[in-house]
Amino acid sequence: MQPLGRKASPLLREMKQVSSGRKNNNLSIFVVVFSIFLFASFMYNEDVKSIAEFPFSTPKSQELQDLSILNKPVQEIVKNDDEKPNTRTITEEQVENSEEKEEPINLKMIITKEETPVVELSTIKEEIEEVEVPPEDCDLFTGEWVFDNTTYPLYKEDECEFLTAQVTCMRNGRTDSLYQNWRWQPRDCSLPKFSARLLLERLRGKRLMFVGDSLNRNQWESMVCLAQSVIPPGKKSLNKTGSLAVFRAEEYNATIEFYWAPFLVESNSDDPTMHSIQDRIIMPKSINKHGKNWKDVDYLIFNTYIWWMNTFKMKVLRGSFDKGATEYDEIDRPIAYARVLKTWANWVEKNVDPKRTSVFFISPSPLHIKSLDWNNPDGIKCAKETMPVLNMTRIHVGTDRRVLAVASNVTRSMKVPVYFFNITALSELRKDAHTSVYTIRQGKMLTDEQKADPANFADCIHWCLPGLPDVWNEFLYTRIISRSSTD
Ligand SMILES: *[C@@H]1O[C@H](CO)[C@@H](O)[C@H](O)[C@H]1NC(C)=O
Ligand SMILES: *[C@@H]1O[C@H](CO)[C@@H](O)[C@H](O)[C@H]1NC(C)=O
Ligand SMILES: *[C@@H]1O[C@H](CO)[C@@H](O)[C@H](O)[C@H]1NC(C)=O
Ligand SMILES: *[C@@H]1O[C@H](CO)[C@@H](O)[C@H](O)[C@H]1NC(C)=O
Ligand SMILES: *[C@@H]1O[C@H](CO)[C@@H](O)[C@H](O)[C@H]1NC(C)=O
Ligand SMILES: *[C@@H]1O[C@H](CO)[C@@H](O)[C@H](O)[C@H]1NC(C)=O
Repeated sequence: MQPLGRKASPLLREMKQVSSGRKNNNLSIFVVVFSIFLFASFMYNEDVKSIAEFPFSTPKSQELQDLSILNKPVQEIVKNDDEKPNTRTITEEQVENSEEKEEPINLKMIITKEETPVVELSTIKEEIEEVEVPPEDCDLFTGEWVFDNTTYPLYKEDECEFLTAQVTCMRNGRTDSLYQNWRWQPRDCSLPKFSARLLLERLRGKRLMFVGDSLNRNQWESMVCLAQSVIPPGKKSLNKTGSLAVFRAEEYNATIEFYWAPFLVESNSDDPTMHSIQDRIIMPKSINKHGKNWKDVDYLIFNTYIWWMNTFKMKVLRGSFDKGATEYDEIDRPIAYARVLKTWANWVEKNVDPKRTSVFFISPSPLHIKSLDWNNPDGIKCAKETMPVLNMTRIHVGTDRRVLAVASNVTRSMKVPVYFFNITALSELRKDAHTSVYTIRQGKMLTDEQKADPANFADCIHWCLPGLPDVWNEFLYTRIISRSSTD
């Protein structure tokens, strides 16, 4: 099916109808006008106390494109945070708890052994020829969510053995499943039809690596599932060793990897399992310890966001952990973030050959912890949400857009081209897509009592799979197949 055909298909018309809402239909939507005043006054009343402890801030009027704040004096930004009620908290707990205390990791292998017939080459060719790639300059990130239960989900939860318990929401008890049925329709073009075979063909003899925090791991799990469906048992494996997890597609000599580095630079939170640390401290200039593991990779996908969000200020080590340093300075978040990205950018410029390697940076993945942000007074965080926000193109859920602006600016000004994936705004609409209480906490499935208490236990940071991260990977897929086809 061709992308243009998709845009005008009867399916889409039907979906539009669905999404515009029908009577007595459980598809009725919780979508609302965003009101700055409601938001502000609510935040002011409810959150002032907790702000002091766990600030999660963003200047309200700040728009994504507004980079001017980067040039403002530090004082002004701080003042903004302290005085305006536009601050937001997430507790240390919320990030920590959602951090998987994974199955004792060091060396976990899943290999299935069995032979299955090879698919006819001609079938693959046909499948690949159907795929049309959007123009390079099309803005993939401006568009709308369209209900599509014919194409989505792109794989079934049960059919991907590599998913961890953190993300298998249905298996963990979630009963609504519409969150799996949304297609992203860019305004000015269409995403190519997803073909796992084409993806793997492009990855043949190559390494693809996600580097970053648990949201990038979320996306990595999605990518593994998207690719693995067409690989027969026995020809795929997963090996988690230390900070690195490697999915291998044997017949393609291809890997899809994840490397844990929540701040990209060296920090005291780098242990892949034991990283529940109250005082997070970074070394903004130290990246080679991690960076040496990213060399000779063909597709590098970076992110860093959620670990910055517990405190207004980031603790920056004076000296080196190796030399026993313990003293630190506290630096405003966007300033420290910019320092880290500068170090990262230098590493990329020095170590990446753009003829071989494509570099991507994923913008902040949003949280949904205040249901009044989408005007649902009966909501509890993201826990009762079953539908995306559909009639607005932007909502404000407390994302720190200063950080987004830094990332956008830094990636744009580099000599090595970096694809900046601006997934923030489109993901902000997906209040329905989080793991909520259908997940694990410190390695254990939530108990029924915990599930009944979403105010304390819902994870509104990570995402169910199949789900939203599959769409982020469709962006990646789009660039991977279009880049290779012009080589
Ligand atoms: C969006 O939809 C909701 C529910 O149908 C409605 O209350 C709200 O007014 C709509 N907002 C806009 C901006 O159209
Ligand atoms: C964007 O980044 C460049 C280089 O990193 C810096 O010189 C410039 O001041 C930044 N621009 C803004 C608007 O922050
Ligand atoms: C990200 O995408 C949104 C939605 O299209 C847009 O409003 C915003 O300007 C973009 N931001 C950046 C930094 O590219
Ligand atoms: C898809 O959604 C439509 C409209 O809600 C529904 O009638 C149909 O049964 C659904 N199909 C599947 C396969 O779930
Ligand atoms: C497999 O891929 C790696 C790169 O990931 C490459 O170095 C190696 O030569 C490939 N091996 C074969 C047999 O093609
Ligand atoms: C998993 O990867 C590690 C590190 O590369 C390697 O030492 C180990 O042998 C691998 N395990 C298996 C079972 O292949």
